[in-house]
Amino acid sequence: MLNVIDLRKMKANKDKITMVTAYDYPSAKHAEQSGIDMILVGDSLGMVVLGYDSTVQVKVDDMIHHGKAVRRGSPNTFTVVDMPFMSYHLSLEDSLRNAARIFQETNAQAIKVEGASDEILILIQRLSEAGIPVVAHLGLTPQSVNVLGGFKVQGKDKAQAKQLLADAKKVTEHGAVALVLECIPKELAEIITDSIEIPTVGIGAGVNCDGQVLVYHDIMKYGVDRLPKFVNPYSDFNTIGREAVSAYISDVKQERFPADEHSFFIKDERILPEKE
Ligand code: KIV
Ligand code: NA
Repeated sequence: MLNVIDLRKMKANKDKITMVTAYDYPSAKHAEQSGIDMILVGDSLGMVVLGYDSTVQVKVDDMIHHGKAVRRGSPNTFTVVDMPFMSYHLSLEDSLRNAARIFQETNAQAIKVEGASDEILILIQRLSEAGIPVVAHLGLTPQSVNVLGGFKVQGKDKAQAKQLLADAKKVTEHGAVALVLECIPKELAEIITDSIEIPTVGIGAGVNCDGQVLVYHDIMKYGVDRLPKFVNPYSDFNTIGREAVSAYISDVKQERFPADEHSFFIKDERILPEKE
């Protein structure tokens, strides 16, 4: 399994870091068996596997429940678990307790928080000091979707771009081990990547980040109807899944399934009771 020093070496060597989300045992197995560098148990699970329209309804217990399933499927892959909405904003003590629960109960390698407010920076530092690696997340931070006014590209004006670069430096200084950059212009992501020592992992942030992350269900086209511009689909589980279930339905209706090869037989007919 990689560790946080390996991730920095990968940045230094320009060896791209690959990351994908996973929310359960089978997706985690796919990711680990394919040789992914890092897995993210994202709070996007609220949208892609629980069907909510944003991530704000996800709870700490949801992250732990899914995180544990992921770890059973990918015990040997560096795994980051998201802290969900409002689980790290009430008080420093509550935030530390929630982070410790998520980290310990899922046996993760890091947790992830969105933003770079003074409170978040202190939290990043305190967690790092306590031995919990923190991945930061800037740009489009989906837990703030209701404040940002939608899932929109961030850092498009001069003030915002400057702020993002400053925030990236601050999370680095406070001990973050990596930085997710979501939905920002490619040129800005390159400047940020070249300005900090920790690896950047982009989603909708262009090719110049140190690594890339995508949502498992997006790259599979699995249950999602509309893909964001920044996703490249590598499969079509929607079609594969519908076709398989349709074929099953018609086989059952036509009595093509179960065939004898799927059935059990007795050796001695005499043990059978009479039909009544
Ligand atoms: O929850 C998630 O999937 C994420 C990624 C989009 C980075 O935070
Ligand atoms: Na997330």
